[in-house]
Amino acid sequence: MNKLSKRLEVIASFVPDNKKIIDIGCDHALLSIFLAERCNKNKVIASDINANALNTAIKNVKEAKLEDRIDTRLGNGLEVVNKDEIDTVIISGMGANTIVGILKYAKDKLTNVDDIIIQSNTDLYFIRKNITIMGYYIDNEKLVKDKGIIYTVIRFKRGKKKYNYKELYLGPILLKNSDNLFREKCIKELKTIKMILGNIKEGHFSYKIKLKKNLKILEKMVD
Ligand SMILES: C[S@@+](CC[C@H](N)C(=O)[O-])C[C@H]1O[C@@H](n2cnc3c(N)ncnc32)[C@H](O)[C@@H]1O
Repeated sequence: MNKLSKRLEVIASFVPDNKKIIDIGCDHALLSIFLAERCNKNKVIASDINANALNTAIKNVKEAKLEDRIDTRLGNGLEVVNKDEIDTVIISGMGANTIVGILKYAKDKLTNVDDIIIQSNTDLYFIRKNITIMGYYIDNEKLVKDKGIIYTVIRFKRGKKKYNYKELYLGPILLKNSDNLFREKCIKELKTIKMILGNIKEGHFSYKIKLKKNLKILEKMVD
């Protein structure tokens, strides 16, 4: 089995077995290969919008002799599948807008999808809010530090739960666990927000309000 980075290891640990998985934006397809090797009942579609990335994926899948178990597809988000082919979606290493866009504009493809596993380091409030609005709840969350960067991995499952602003911003499960890495992430974010607020001159009124709201939450967290 190929060795994954710490970040990809956590993402893989969030993916159940015996599943029909799409790894959107697979790039090298290392995660797809790992999941196919881990459980021979996993069916994996590894897709990417970029032809060069997909060619790397195809080469790696061939080298792993998994061509019959991993389907590589070129294209945008969920456009490359039909709804009966998938029950699990992974999107990792992309920005919040792209992730939410992929899911929101192909909702019909999610009919049979019970698990959505996301790893992103931008606007996690926006991701949690939008995916929970789509009829999923936050089932698990984990932080992982890989080469000095703290990554957030979230698993959504089909179902409903209500969350307040602070939970959507910082993560209901991460908040509950509140470990040292979470504290480190809060301190980093606090510094970033202070720097942004210091650099914004005129205008950006609603953005400033949002940043100040987040600042207050973080200040209480690291008190
Ligand atoms: C930073 S890489 C992350 C690769 C891998 N998922 C990981 O976490 O290591 C992002 C990949 O997503 C692909 N991508 C970006 N937007 C996409 C979209 N709308 N549909 C499919 N793939 C996309 C890019 O081409 C790139 O290969």
